[in-house]
Amino acid sequence: MVSFVCALIGLCARLVSSLAIDSRTNCYSGAFIISLHGCNGRGAEQGYEKNYTDPLLVAIPDSFRYVLPYDGSCDDLYTYYDTVNAGVNTLKSAIEDYAEACPSSKIIIVGYSEGAHVTLNTLGGNQTDGTSPLGLSYGTQIVSILTFGDPSRAMAQSYNRGTNKAVSGVFARGASSLPNLGFYAARLLSYCDLGDIFCAPNTIGVVDDVHGSYFTGAHYVNEAVSIAVEQFYKPLGRHE
Ligand SMILES: *[C@@H]1O[C@H](CO)[C@@H](O)[C@H](O)[C@H]1NC(C)=O
Ligand SMILES: *[C@@H]1O[C@H](CO)[C@@H](O)[C@H](O)[C@H]1NC(C)=O
Repeated sequence: MVSFVCALIGLCARLVSSLAIDSRTNCYSGAFIISLHGCNGRGAEQGYEKNYTDPLLVAIPDSFRYVLPYDGSCDDLYTYYDTVNAGVNTLKSAIEDYAEACPSSKIIIVGYSEGAHVTLNTLGGNQTDGTSPLGLSYGTQIVSILTFGDPSRAMAQSYNRGTNKAVSGVFARGASSLPNLGFYAARLLSYCDLGDIFCAPNTIGVVDDVHGSYFTGAHYVNEAVSIAVEQFYKPLGRHE
């Protein structure tokens, strides 16, 4: 199924991530922005999420963008789960390292597609496959989480945005992690529009690559960036 998905996406080149984490020496007074691309590098560093992370870098002085190096292969279902779980471990370490080195600094996470799935499994865990959630002391330093086209999206959550209010994603999140995400509900936004084959399957068919349509001012850069900036300027611990 995922290879079909990959073919549908049409952009399956592997990407090598570039920025090395330098969190142990640098604590930013701005945001440490962690960016996660989609399956097989779709929307990688200089691609889609850049439309969110660029304006955040401008709006919040002394911020740093860390493009999480994770594989994101999705040629089949097993590879997909493997790369989600490997991504979870990498993201957890990146957050823990930065948060430990810089306990009064703030983190923003932007995740697209598989990157959204990795982000939310990191924060919420997955009881079914034994993935433990990120410790809450680290989670406190995450002030804003923006996800787009999340295949693990569950319908009817307070943090859901976008036109899809009807269905859950293809890897719908359930009781094995949703309760843990409650801790982040006030600072999490999950965007998903009707017609997105991953987060809104079988809604209005495959329409104009809805899955790749979240990256313009109208959908939803202006809104998401302004909310993330607002969250950034709240004192740590005031994001509940
Ligand atoms: C949790 O793990 C199970 C077993 O691998 C998997 O079927 C399910 O899709 C996972 N849930 C999420 C939200 O990743
Ligand atoms: C990113 O934003 C620019 C304009 O700021 C727009 O032209 C471009 O289409 C956007 N990228 C995507 C993938 O939507």
